[in-house]
Amino acid sequence: MRKNIVAGNWKMNKNHMEGARLASEILDGLRGRDIGCEVILFPTFTTISSVIDVVKGSAISVGGQNLYSERDGAFTGEISAEMLKNLGCQYVLVGHSERRNIFGEDSVFLSKKLRIALEYGLFPLFCVGELLEQREAGKAGEVVEKQLKDVLNGLGGDEISRVTIAYEPVWAIGTGKTATASDAANMHSLIRDVIKSIFGSEISQRMIIMYGGSVKAGNAAQLLNEPDIDGALVGGAALKADSFLKIIYASAK
Ligand code: 13P
Repeated sequence: MRKNIVAGNWKMNKNHMEGARLASEILDGLRGRDIGCEVILFPTFTTISSVIDVVKGSAISVGGQNLYSERDGAFTGEISAEMLKNLGCQYVLVGHSERRNIFGEDSVFLSKKLRIALEYGLFPLFCVGELLEQREAGKAGEVVEKQLKDVLNGLGGDEISRVTIAYEPVWAIGTGKTATASDAANMHSLIRDVIKSIFGSEISQRMIIMYGGSVKAGNAAQLLNEPDIDGALVGGAALKADSFLKIIYASAK
């Protein structure tokens, strides 16, 4: 059986002191509870170290929101896979829609990032999702299938086994609009079929596919009750311990 993952993507919020405080409140809320899911925090780069100091030795993992596609060198302002790994990160986001749409990251670039993350022993959390106009044009499935194939094709079985997928419809991110549980479940099932077509049934059944896009305390249980939805990637509601903890409590499978 697949485990659920609940992850908080803090985006460009929380300086290192605020981040440490939030991590410590989340830790307090989990103490003594059998939470039955994995919890990952994705703070901004300058906050990672303080958060790791707080959660070290606990069940909470930490990841980077981004990484660069090269090992090292003259890339001013960039952060490498090795730097994240060395700091104690286990995960890294690749292909978040804000990277794709605001910073123009394409599948060729994302492919390199995903592979270098794997090379350094990080677990990539690979994000896919369609724009509103693509959904309205009936192209959501086609777009997501292409995003998956363009980046994941060619990975070996041991590599794909370390990848987690997050489906984040772009029109649902930060808008308060959520895909209905059944729309999300349909897309998750399509994603699982695409994984099956490339890597076979066993790997597709093991693949953790999380949902992201305005997940809140009030809608988490309904989304996470869908058998094909294996967790939540949370933005806004992850910035307060209270709302994030409620989503974690709702995730027990
Ligand atoms: P919101 O939960 O704020 O919609 O953000 C979702 C997201 O982008 C998580 O990566």
